[in-house]
Amino acid sequence: MIKAIILDFDGVIVNTDPFHFNSWKKVLRYYDIQIKFSQKDYNLIKGFSRSVSLNKIIQSHDLQGINSELKSKILQKKNNFFLQSIKYISKENLIPGVEEFIVNNKGIYKIGVASASANATFILDKIGMINLFDVVIDANITNKKKPNPEVYFKCCEKLDLSPKECVVFEDSLNGVYASKSGGFVTYGVGNTEIKDDVDFFITNFLDFKLNDINS
Ligand code: BG6
Ligand code: MG
Repeated sequence: MIKAIILDFDGVIVNTDPFHFNSWKKVLRYYDIQIKFSQKDYNLIKGFSRSVSLNKIIQSHDLQGINSELKSKILQKKNNFFLQSIKYISKENLIPGVEEFIVNNKGIYKIGVASASANATFILDKIGMINLFDVVIDANITNKKKPNPEVYFKCCEKLDLSPKECVVFEDSLNGVYASKSGGFVTYGVGNTEIKDDVDFFITNFLDFKLNDINS
């Protein structure tokens, strides 16, 4: 029986992708790293932690000469650019229908967040939604990052439930690997590239109801 809803943060609760994409482009320019970083390139790193994302950019563009000291600077600066860019983030940036979905299910199901971002708790607080959740696990608390299922396991442990008692909502392939390998029923949200890898798929939360999950 499903007793909890666990949501990924970026791309499922808040549409942060444009902010992440622009911050990567800005930091690459800032350090004069001359590669073409397209939306397609960003989609390939979506859902990975910041440092894994940078390693993937380095590998895929065959960038030599980025040592670990420069890597740390890039990561720090990327996050600074990201934080500057979300200065005015608000509920206007929510995935359509997600707040209503959470409010309507609160009390019926436990509600958790499981994110690969170190900024998830901060942003939920900033937009005034942190109190809607029974538990929020973000990258400050986990050791292993998605696609490892640790963040999902930690979330259901805190809720005192097993994976079989939770349903997960994810938007990135990497996140779907994490939830599916952890044994969670998984809904894909928005990103049509993950349609074949999830149990169910929704475009967004407008008019979506979890009615039949336990019948
Ligand atoms: C994930 C996003 O939730 O968080 C990724 O899907 C992002 O695209 C990652 O890179 C890391 O986030 P942050 O905020 O810690 O840099
Ligand atoms: Mg996501």
